Amino acid sequence: MIQIKSAREIELMRDVCKLAAKTLHFLGKQVKVGMSTDDINTLCHQYTLNRGAIPAPLNYHGFPKSVCTSLNSVICHGIPSPKDILKDGDILNIDVTSKLKGFHGDTNRTFFVGNVKPEVKKLVDTTYDCMMAGISVCKPGARLGDVGAIIEEMAHGNGFTVVHEYCGHGIGREFHEDPQVVHYGKRGTGVELRPGMTFTIEPMINLGKRHCKVLDDGWTVLTKDGSWSAQFEHTILITESGYEILTTFDESEWTDADDKI
Ligand code: MF3
Ligand code: CO
Ligand code: CO
Repeated sequence: MIQIKSAREIELMRDVCKLAAKTLHFLGKQVKVGMSTDDINTLCHQYTLNRGAIPAPLNYHGFPKSVCTSLNSVICHGIPSPKDILKDGDILNIDVTSKLKGFHGDTNRTFFVGNVKPEVKKLVDTTYDCMMAGISVCKPGARLGDVGAIIEEMAHGNGFTVVHEYCGHGIGREFHEDPQVVHYGKRGTGVELRPGMTFTIEPMINLGKRHCKVLDDGWTVLTKDGSWSAQFEHTILITESGYEILTTFDESEWTDADDKI
């Protein structure tokens, strides 16, 4: 069942999504050659708790850490590890999900570590454009097939592929709610959007083939062919006139306190 959030629920979604966005921004500023993905986990865990929130990934269906960190050929659900040291030319996706006053906010970005190859930069830039294109068609009366179609066209038009097995999702009191938001599809099909829906759009785009595999740890999703993969994610709200990106904040309001763990 797809929920329509009340005005009060939307206020709470705005609060938690803003915190998730600020947390991701903070973590992005810490990314540097030589640090481990476990260092990012530690920072995310503390930053979140110190702001009265909970890192939703921790213990979610047994996930062992407070954030997902997905490097290079890892598509999603990478587990932070002291053994994974960032090196020049890597791409790192950091996926933050915060829980505050009973509601969830979910957002991710793929960051460059040092200087990345031009083809990899194009992959990452195109993936961001895919997410924003998907968001741009959201309004009451549009359908989820419209979102999937524009993402798929943009990815394929740039020579990349779209992961099918993982998707965006409704979000609110639950981390993952209905509907499923797939990043491929046909215009005019699928769920019709209505004001008050909150869901994520989070395309995973590969340099090579679209197929994936899961490691024995039960979480880490990799490309089957070893090609690199990028992802971006926002949580959005459907409004009367279109959409609102909830996982954002005004950077001009960033203060020294926001830079403290
Ligand atoms: N944040 C991911 C998403 O975008 C889900 C991570 S589930 C976890 O839906 F358990 F790995 F954290
Ligand atoms: Co999500
Ligand atoms: Co996420």
